[in-house]
Formats: sequence, C-alpha cells, structure tokens
Amino acid sequence: MLWHCQFLICYLCPSSSTISMLSAMSANSDLSKTVRDKYMRLPQGDKVQVTYIWIDGTGEGLHCKTRTLESEPKGIEDVPEWNFFGSSVFWSDGSNSDMYLVPVCLFKDPFTLDRNKLVLCEVLRHNREPTETNLRSSCHQVMEQAGHSHPWFGMEQEYLLLGIDKHPFGWPKNGYPEPKGSYSCSVGTNKVYGRDIAECHYKACLYAGVKIAGINTEAMPSQWEFQVGPGEGIAMGDHLWMARFLLHRVCEDFGVVATLDPKPMTGNWYGAGCHTNFSTEAMRNQGGLQHIEEAIEKLSKRHSYHIRMYDPKGGADNSRRLTGSHETSSIHEFSAGINNRSASIRIPHQVGQDGCGYFEDRRPAANCDPYAVMEAITRTCVLNEAEPVPAGEVP
Ligand SMILES: *[C@@H]1O[C@H](CO)[C@@H](O)[C@H](O)[C@H]1NC(C)=O
Ligand SMILES: *[C@@H]1O[C@H](CO)[C@@H](O)[C@H](O)[C@H]1NC(C)=O
Repeated sequence: MLWHCQFLICYLCPSSSTISMLSAMSANSDLSKTVRDKYMRLPQGDKVQVTYIWIDGTGEGLHCKTRTLESEPKGIEDVPEWNFFGSSVFWSDGSNSDMYLVPVCLFKDPFTLDRNKLVLCEVLRHNREPTETNLRSSCHQVMEQAGHSHPWFGMEQEYLLLGIDKHPFGWPKNGYPEPKGSYSCSVGTNKVYGRDIAECHYKACLYAGVKIAGINTEAMPSQWEFQVGPGEGIAMGDHLWMARFLLHRVCEDFGVVATLDPKPMTGNWYGAGCHTNFSTEAMRNQGGLQHIEEAIEKLSKRHSYHIRMYDPKGGADNSRRLTGSHETSSIHEFSAGINNRSASIRIPHQVGQDGCGYFEDRRPAANCDPYAVMEAITRTCVLNEAEPVPAGEVP
C-alpha cells in the first residue's frame, strides 16, 4: 500500500506551485475533455445546432444561445430570426422586453464541428430599432455609402490572459516577471505563457472561416495579439467580433480568462490596443501616398471625435492607455509619422517607400467596438465629414 500512502501525501501536501495553478484555473478546465469527446462523436442526423451570438448592453460583453434547425442553413438567409428577453439590468432603456436577434454573418462551429454553425446577430428592440450598443447598424449604412471607395480594414487585437483570480496567467504570485524581458514575438519557457490558448484560438478561427491573418506574443508576458483582415467594409467588424467570441470560448476550455482591458496592469507595463490599418482603393493604387496624406489631414481636425469613438466609454478607457509612453501617443494631441510607433497615425516604412498602401491608426483601445472605429474613419476620410462634432471634451 506504499503507493497509496505516497498518493495521499502528495494529495494532502501539494507543492506550492500546484496550489497556485489550482487557484488560478476555473473548474471548467478540470472537467474531462475525454468524456466530452465521447459524446461529441455521436451522430446527430440531419439536425443542425446553430449558436446565436450577440453583443450585450455594455457594448463589450458577448452572449450566446443555441437552437436546433431541421436542416443545414446554406447561407445567412436560411437562419431564422430569434429573440431573447432583455433584462433592464443590461439594457439602458430600463424596460424589460423581448429583443430580436437578426442573423448577419454565418460561421462554422469549431467546437461541435461542421455542419453546426455560429451566427453573429444584430440586436433590435421590440419596435425593431437598433439598441444603443448595436453599432453595426449605422456602420453598415456608412459602409454602403462609402462602397465606391472600397474601404479595407485590418485590425490587430491585443489581449492579456488572466487566471480566475484576475492575476495575469503564469505570473509569479508574489511579484512580477522581469520587466525588461523582450517578450514581443518571443519563444521559450521563461518568456511565453499560454501559447496553447493562442494556437488553439488560431485554429478555431481558421476552421470557423474567420479571416485571421496571424498571431504573436506581445510586450508583456501572457499578452498576445491576433490580426484579422484585411477585409472590405462591414465584414471586418463581423470577423473581429467572431474572433473575440472564439477567444473567450477557447479560454473556457483552458479555464483562463482573456481580458481586452486597454490597461490591464497599471504602472510600467504596456497597455493593449486594437491598431487599425485602413486604405481605400485610391490609397492602394500608384500615387496613393497623396491620398493617405489627405486622409491624415482630415483626421488631424477631428481628433476628439475619434477618441470618443475608440473605446466603449467615450475615451475614458483610452485615457489610461494613451499616455505618450509605451509606444502610444498622447490622448490630447494628434500626431502622424512614417514608422513612428508613438504617433496617433503611423505610415508603415514600406508604404513610405512604395508611395502607396495604407496607414495605421494606433489610437483604438483593445476593447473598442470595431464597428464604431470603422464608421468614424470612413466618415472622416471617405465621406469628408468635417462639421464640428457635438461638444464633448476628451477625458
Ligand atoms: C497592419 O499593418 C502592420 C504594419 O504596419 C502589419 O504588421 C500588420 O500585419 C497589419 N495588420 C493587419 C491585420 O492587416
Ligand atoms: C513620433 O511622434 C511623437 C508624437 O508626435 C513625437 O513626439 C516623436 O518625436 C516622433 N518620433 C520621431 C522619431 O519622429
């Protein structure tokens, strides 16, 4: 029975590292994935599971629920509208009422596998008006108006992995990792935390049909980035929201949390952004640099409007991040430069050389709504909106 005693000793006196891992991971990750797989392999006949996904009243949170359809939807038009009960706790008009879920973009489900689907939805009120946090609706209209310019977007989503104790995943319990480590695009046990999660998310995106362009580690340990795009018009926003859903869902399997907070660690640590590449057809063609410079000139006159659109709290979240240090610009000033990571707008070195291409708006916060960012850039740069924007100070 010696083995049994040893087991008991181990069990009762886990090493300190085991304790810290256990407390940081959720109970989800302890459930047997082998048992789960046994059920996942059961045939399901012609029936198809469709998971409806929507943005909640905070403009940041995602929700989902699943229903059975009798046959496989071949396109978005085959997915019926649905509804949910919008509790006044989460929706600002204070009334409890049914909300409509209007399917807008269809993906394959990487968790229960094809032919099951994930469907991104717009949320409409009982009177069929978009909710305040349904920013897709107006973005879609602006994209239609600007369709002739063929606007392309590419977005880089930064995020930080946390344990359920809200401490960054893998960081020492008491203290910090070496601050001067070069963690960006790194490899090695002492530099990279949570690669399993980023890699599984990448695969899940590819399977689902999300236009993911790549991943890399970022400037803090446990901080990652993925890129989505380039995509034309509204599709970019749809794909980024679906990529965020997949990230949170993959994190469930591993028992950790992904935060999009723009300054998750206070002090001398990097923040988290959602840098946005933008171009029109004219910018991409020969001589495009001139169009890029014209767009930057227009952006320079509407800085405070853009700052208000670049995080869900009208600039308050970004005021913690856009400090002018850690490769950010100051929230109070507009700036632009070739290959300047401390400017609001960066023209990539290659674009300066080629004389055409795109520019990068480095101001959007990691928790921005991509629809709001895309709408603002398009209104200013393509629709030439220059009228004074409603008063409102940059926080
Ligand atoms: C945006 O542009 C940068 C270079 O300025 C590039 O490294 C990045 O991959 C691009 N991202 C997307 C999503 O297009
Ligand atoms: C980059 O832009 C910032 C903000 O305008 C400016 O302070 C800095 O001098 C610029 N850096 C270079 C190398 O031009």
